[in-house]
Amino acid sequence: MSDPYSNLANEDDALQARIADAMDARCLEPAQVEIRRAYLGDLELPEGAYAVEFGSGTGHVTNDLIEMAGATKALGIEPSPIMVERARQHFDGKPSLRFEVGDARNTGLPSSSVDLVLMHTLLCHVPDPQDAVREAHRILKPGGLVAVCDGDYDTATAQIADFDPLDQLVRFMINQNVTNLWVMRQIGELLGAAGFELGRRCGHGYVAEGEAGYFLTVIDRGADRMVETGVLFPQTAEALKAEARSRVSSNTFFGFMSYVSQIARKPIG
Ligand SMILES: C[S@@+](CC[C@H](N)C(=O)[O-])C[C@H]1O[C@@H](n2cnc3c(N)ncnc32)[C@H](O)[C@@H]1O
Repeated sequence: MSDPYSNLANEDDALQARIADAMDARCLEPAQVEIRRAYLGDLELPEGAYAVEFGSGTGHVTNDLIEMAGATKALGIEPSPIMVERARQHFDGKPSLRFEVGDARNTGLPSSSVDLVLMHTLLCHVPDPQDAVREAHRILKPGGLVAVCDGDYDTATAQIADFDPLDQLVRFMINQNVTNLWVMRQIGELLGAAGFELGRRCGHGYVAEGEAGYFLTVIDRGADRMVETGVLFPQTAEALKAEARSRVSSNTFFGFMSYVSQIARKPIG
């Protein structure tokens, strides 16, 4: 299966809504909020800054451009109309935030018009990531910043012991839902080739907490996909989902992934 996030608008409405639910769950988890604050919280933006998120999903991260990065207004660009509608519902009544259907590789925004471009867990899903990076460079003002953050997907795990079957669900989910597994290990080269000067790079460990809301969506989507592709019988998938929930209620569930953030600047002149 090709990564459904790479062409989400073409997937059926039920899958788009399921992914929107997973994005909402992930965005609101305190550990995820702290990852975003860690790399967005100390950017130096000019007065009245205009920021754009490429791949804005359900809009929470676009809102961070104002609440964490200090931009005055922000635009989220996203190909899935279902995601855009969800984002508009979440932030209805906040005139500083706008969401539009569009593509990161060709935004239609004027050249040199934006102070900050953010790509948060986008580039791993874009088949030609260099096109999105070049577009960010084009629309940024000289001196403007790009912030890229994505999973370092090879580190994703739910394993608590040797040969733990739950870990296979996580690996299968990643295998089926990520186009560029290594994007954050290649990001310096991608940004450099587009003309950016590299700034701070940080690693961020994410451990599922409490009810493990987001990580359970990973387990469930991995299990369902194994059924769809004939790897598992439905009853086995249900048993593995139940195993994950039993671990959550007995405090033995472990879900982990590293994220990496990279800041870069469009040179002045
Ligand atoms: C994993 S979600 C992340 C959404 C949001 N940034 C967040 O962290 O909640 C990736 C999003 O990128 C969008 N996307 C995929 N390809 C895109 C492209 N070429 N241009 C803009 N967005 C794209 C998907 O539709 C999806 O909503």
